[in-house]
Amino acid sequence: MGKVLLSFDTAGDFLSVGIARYTGEPLNAHPFDILSSESFPAPRRANIMLLSKIDEALAELDLDRGDIAAVVVGRGPGSFTGVRIGVATAKGIARGLGVPLYGVSTTDAIAQRIAASGHEGWAFIAADAMRKEIYPALAYIEAGAVSRVRRDYVGKPEAVLPDAIDEYRRSSAGGTLLVAGNGLLKHRDSITSAFETAGIDYEMADESLGMVDGAGLIAAYVAAANGRSPEPFVDTGRPGDVFPIYTRMSDAEEIERVKKIAAGDSVPAYEKASDRSGVGILVGGDSLDAPAGDRALDSAFPVALRSLVPSDIEAMVAIEEALEHPEWTRGLIEAEFELINRIWVGAFLQGELVGFAGFADLAGDVHVLDVVTAPTARRKGVARKLILTGMQRALEWRTNKITLEVRVSNDSAIKLYESLGFVQAGVRPSYYSDNHEDALIMWGEMVTDEIAQTWWSSVSRQERAESGARILALESSCDETAAAVVEENTVMSNVIASQIDFHARFGGVVPEIASRKHIEAVTGVIDEALAATSASAFSMPLSALDALAVTDSPGLVGALVVGLAFMKGLSFGCAKPLYGINHLEGHIYANILAHPEIETPFVALLVSGGHTSLIHSSEPGFYRTLGETLDDATGEAFDKVAKALGLSYPGGPIISALAETGNPRAIAFPRAMMKSGDYAFSLSGLKTAVITHIHKAQETGEELAANDIAASFQQAVIDVQVSKSVRAVQETGAKWFLLAGGVAANKALREGLAQAMERLDVKVSVPPFVYCTDNAAMIARAAAARVFHDAPLDFTADASARASLDFPKI
Ligand code: KG4
Ligand code: ZN
Repeated sequence: MGKVLLSFDTAGDFLSVGIARYTGEPLNAHPFDILSSESFPAPRRANIMLLSKIDEALAELDLDRGDIAAVVVGRGPGSFTGVRIGVATAKGIARGLGVPLYGVSTTDAIAQRIAASGHEGWAFIAADAMRKEIYPALAYIEAGAVSRVRRDYVGKPEAVLPDAIDEYRRSSAGGTLLVAGNGLLKHRDSITSAFETAGIDYEMADESLGMVDGAGLIAAYVAAANGRSPEPFVDTGRPGDVFPIYTRMSDAEEIERVKKIAAGDSVPAYEKASDRSGVGILVGGDSLDAPAGDRALDSAFPVALRSLVPSDIEAMVAIEEALEHPEWTRGLIEAEFELINRIWVGAFLQGELVGFAGFADLAGDVHVLDVVTAPTARRKGVARKLILTGMQRALEWRTNKITLEVRVSNDSAIKLYESLGFVQAGVRPSYYSDNHEDALIMWGEMVTDEIAQTWWSSVSRQERAESGARILALESSCDETAAAVVEENTVMSNVIASQIDFHARFGGVVPEIASRKHIEAVTGVIDEALAATSASAFSMPLSALDALAVTDSPGLVGALVVGLAFMKGLSFGCAKPLYGINHLEGHIYANILAHPEIETPFVALLVSGGHTSLIHSSEPGFYRTLGETLDDATGEAFDKVAKALGLSYPGGPIISALAETGNPRAIAFPRAMMKSGDYAFSLSGLKTAVITHIHKAQETGEELAANDIAASFQQAVIDVQVSKSVRAVQETGAKWFLLAGGVAANKALREGLAQAMERLDVKVSVPPFVYCTDNAAMIARAAAARVFHDAPLDFTADASARASLDFPKI
């Protein structure tokens, strides 16, 4: 069966899925036949239902996943988590299948649905934005084509309606205004009375017209690709370039802004959340350009890539003319924009064109027409990005081969093409007219995953036979987006994109910002983990993996969901089983990764920013939680004490450094639960005692010995933890003691435990620091213990904020 486009949206309470057959050239007016288009009620269940609904929709048409040629996803606006589920799943599916991903405004899709119903003239859409607000949109439909007045925004009906009414009046077009959208359920009265007062002739649309459907998404894609959407359309096709549309900042930022205003500090006149970031930005200027992609780790030369349009011709000519051997005249370049089987991609640095490449679909092969960069952008990987982006876009053409000619004297270009898997196929003598130089003909495989597959199978099969399952894991439970490839105890790559800088000014992790950052980083981190497995030019292909793994509990649920949705999509796309891993088990496996000789029975003390638990394991994979904190986690207590001392976040490392010069006996802080006879911990009393001590000293003007406070606080923590750990080991007869979590970085705690365990003749394991804090290598290692005999997750798997490690669960 031919190629199909898959579309879906999860921004609202309904889940929409569409499938369309591709009938024409890219960007033709009507290149798709809609094969199916359905919506299902799925309030807060998109993560559970989405992949099954996609599978069903394909099956009904006798299609399978391999028939998907491209994916279109609704980017919102809508429920933040809902939109992220759709976008993360779409990134995963597209990455897993190796097909392009495009994102469209959910509002555009609704407007298209209204157009498809036959309505002509003006329509006003009011989508429910919760919090007594709506996403308003005014659209004009003429001969089925939709023009929307402005970009997506949010506001209370009474605040946004006057503007919308003004805009409508200014248009001076007559007819009846059609009013639609699920925002009418809550705001019908205020909306209709505003139109009535203004004397506007309006009519209420059928309720179904206010919802997205699969066909509307596809029509929105076609319109956006033709420049008919007010939202910037990112058409690189790279899954990493598609982000949710946010119309609000996170609450933490909003509160910060309001406080600034109250304090009389200057705040920019009009801020809005950026598509790319949890951090508010100014409207206008560069910030509204296509975002530079989620290469979180690739910011050295952050070019943004997009398709070129006729208004770029001037800049293209300027770059071409400055070349040593200009080949493309203005006339030739202009002619390119008249052709349909062409892709021209540009690389932009701060809005300025610094390089471009052209591709043609010629008789079933992709032909590279031109690759040029401005002198300032040379040797920065720009040409490589242009070629890879063009190839990604050209996947739509479904060709197998890509060809090009290059001057025989252009060594650096030849090397670049070779590193991308191109081989030399012949010479065209005296091909170039300016100096009669020969052209080297080169060709490569279009499906880069397959090239890499060949390379990988030739190089690494023998080594592989020796080791266990090869697993790609993702961790996103808190404020690090991490990915790793692990083969049993060999870490082939371990990549971490930390968000600490974005949370630091709030003194702790802001869940909404964490979720936003995860979806920005996830594709780049996964790509980097696959690329970093070898020094060769070829990333590890997904086909070379045995399984995938993802942290599915416990943690910040909005953050977990991003990682889980992405990995479920990836698993759907690349057909590798996905294992769901408990984050705490991951921390335990960080020890096994570092010390494979560890044996059960063991006791593990897990101390991090979110956890404080003593866990006993009698047999591999079986755990019993002996005790946990009743309130704050250990790392959290360190962070809060640091905050009280006016120190920055995260406070753990700063407190432990301060403590080195302080006197641990200077202040007698309480040792809560020390003699409670169980394994429970409580840290909030200690934290309060320290904070009270600091405040008292401040009131009496007494000089604060921060190092003594730090040392005394730390000692109080250590005394309790060492004493409970010792008792746990004695009572269970454990032979090993494992320390895990970010607080395991604390030297004094490690030393205290090591001394105590040595006396008991118990072996102690502390992983290297990179595996103590959150990482994905530990998640992959935990999964390796399960692959081949445990059931993988199915499509309906969901994340959970809380989950016990204990088995059988009690
Ligand atoms: O495991 P982790 O990276 O993240 C969570 O899962 O929470 O742990 C981070 C926590 C932070 O609270 C940080 O302040 C704490 O570990 N931490 C430390 C030290 N280094 C990091 N606490 C005490 N002493 C340290 N040296
Ligand atoms: Zn952790």
